[in-house]
Amino acid sequence: MEIPRGSLETQTFYEQVGGEETFRRLVHRFYQGVAEDPLLRPMYPEEDLGPAEERLALFLMQYWGGPRTYSDARGHPRLRMRHAPFTVNRAAHDAWLRHMRDAVDSLELPAPLETKLWDYLVYAAGSLINAAD
Ligand code: HEM
Repeated sequence: MEIPRGSLETQTFYEQVGGEETFRRLVHRFYQGVAEDPLLRPMYPEEDLGPAEERLALFLMQYWGGPRTYSDARGHPRLRMRHAPFTVNRAAHDAWLRHMRDAVDSLELPAPLETKLWDYLVYAAGSLINAAD
């Protein structure tokens, strides 16, 4: 009998949620929120949010078991160091997570996958706070 790929616990989380397309949708929706956000938008150094969108999408894909394109292009993520130039205080953290919550909701993932993704994003955002209000 042939056992279809993914029927056992062989799939990465990246695959379980739908692969690249899902992460691209997530991050695209997130940056639509950032583009309209009076606190966050000025933090992004580039006029065009496209390259930042690309970096976050590739990072998340890699983190969850997808292709390692992020590190091929950018090296070790070292996220705390890369956020050091920006004031990530509680307000920035809350705004970031608010747009991410909206983006996660838009994916309509099965509840256990959604929870896993969301819990990670909350944890990661908390770990990047580098400034008191
Ligand atoms: C807590 C609130 C956060 C704020 C205010 C914030 C803000 C920023 C800003 C302003 C940049 C520079 C844009 C760019 O040039 O790429 C950036 C980059 C980035 N952020 Fe965040 N971020 C936050 C949380 C997170 C979290 C939770 C993650 C991961 C789960 C993340 C992942 C990244 C990545 C991968 C980059 C690009 C790093 C690089 O390769 O240069 N950020 N962030």
